[in-house]
Amino acid sequence: MSNEKKVRAYTNIALIKYWGKRDEKLFLPMNSSLSLTLDSFYTETSVSFEDSTEGDVFYLNDALQDAKATQKVSRFLDLFRQEAGITSAAVVKSTNFVPTAAGLASSASGMAALAGAANLASGLNLDKTTLSTYARRGSGSATRSMFGGFVEWEKGTNNEDSRAIKIDEASWDIGMVTIIVNDKQKSISSREGMKNTVATSPFYPSWLESTSVDLANIKEAILAKDFEQVGMITESNGMKMHATMLGANPPLSYWEPDSVRAMQAVRNLRQSGIPCYFTMDAGPNVKVLCRLSDSQKIKDYLVQTFNPEQIVISGPGKDLEEISI
Ligand code: PMV
Repeated sequence: MSNEKKVRAYTNIALIKYWGKRDEKLFLPMNSSLSLTLDSFYTETSVSFEDSTEGDVFYLNDALQDAKATQKVSRFLDLFRQEAGITSAAVVKSTNFVPTAAGLASSASGMAALAGAANLASGLNLDKTTLSTYARRGSGSATRSMFGGFVEWEKGTNNEDSRAIKIDEASWDIGMVTIIVNDKQKSISSREGMKNTVATSPFYPSWLESTSVDLANIKEAILAKDFEQVGMITESNGMKMHATMLGANPPLSYWEPDSVRAMQAVRNLRQSGIPCYFTMDAGPNVKVLCRLSDSQKIKDYLVQTFNPEQIVISGPGKDLEEISI
């Protein structure tokens, strides 16, 4: 069987964070989360199952990947092979598109694009909601990259209902400015970080409680298109997630001096009358939720502290899509 179609998935940034698994194997999360899909960062992937190939082969940005990276892809493809009754090996070609410094690869867009391409190549033709439950098992945040706009990942009760749903297209004046503080691979993966936090942080139970309140409130604010409310909840939720890490044993922090500088710059912008709010994930980069119409002004201010190449403006991204080669 051969299939030459490519799938593009856009990355997403959580406004209400996913932090902690209740089932390590199935990637069932402790809490529901909600994100904004971005148009500036995406991955394009093709999968073809070929009888002539011995074992799976994985190219990322045209470079043949080592056994460890290939194994992760193989295990993920096995979910599709099992379902579709396919026994052949696959050739996987994936390209990460990032506007500036390489290395800001996203597991969210990567795993979502791989799920989309495997869906096509295997002939399973799963709808995006079902496909999101597959993407989840590659990387939790990939669940949400199935759709554009604002997307909720419902924690669900089992493998089938822990899935993505679109909350709003985000076709209003909203965007995100990413400040690339450091594009190197993080030393502690999100998988390790969250595991340790759930196991040891005394702040974790309060995080879960307050996150379900934040989620209900942000959904209301999104539907009311109340940008400032969406932003305030986003900033608060992100900081609370990082607080759980500081309470872990050993304590964990992904922040760097420039992350703190970026956060201060956002506060300054706000004081000057531009509504914008920051959030951070399992790394030092800072993402600024803003009105897309203010994004250039925000960039102009940030380049007083950072290089222009470190600042990337994004609008809302689209659903997972098939693209012709
Ligand atoms: O699924 P992962 O391994 O990409 O973990 C994502 C964790 C955070 O980025 C910190 C939060 C989130 O919801 O994306």
